[in-house]
Amino acid sequence: MTDEFTAAQQYTAIAVYFDSAGLGQLARRFHTLADIERHHALGIIEFLLGRGYPVQVGGIGEIASTFTSPQNAVEFILRREHDTTGRITQLSRLARFGDDYLADRFVQALLADQVEHTARVMTLLTEIYATNGDLAEIDDYAGRDYVRV
Ligand SMILES: [Fe+2]
Repeated sequence: MTDEFTAAQQYTAIAVYFDSAGLGQLARRFHTLADIERHHALGIIEFLLGRGYPVQVGGIGEIASTFTSPQNAVEFILRREHDTTGRITQLSRLARFGDDYLADRFVQALLADQVEHTARVMTLLTEIYATNGDLAEIDDYAGRDYVRV
C-alpha cells in the first residue's frame, strides 16, 4: 500500500518535471499513471479492510523530483517498476506458502496489472531511445491516441 502511494507521488513528480520541460502530453500520461497507482493503493486497502485487517495510512517513501533528461526520468521509473514487480512476486509467494488463496488471487491480479504497467513504460522508453532525445517528437508520441502510457 505504501509502495503504491509512493509510486503515485513519484509519477506525479515526474509529470511535473515533464510539464516544466514543456512536455505536456507526457505530463498528462504520467498524471494518469499516478491515478492508477493511487487506485492500486486504494484497492489494497479495500482488500485488507474487507478481510478484517486493521489499516493505517502513513507516510510514503522517498521521491525523486529532479532528472537529467526525460529519458533519465523514464529509466528511473522503469527501475522502480521492476523493484515493485519483485516485491509483489514476493507477496504472491508468501500468500501461497501460507495457503492464503484469496490473498494469492488478489496479488495475482495486482501482478497482472503490474506487468501491463511496466510494459507500457518500457514501450515509452523504447520510443524515447528511437527519437534520439528529440523532445518534441517524444511528446508527440505520448499524445497519440493509441499510446497507452
Ligand atoms: Fe501499482
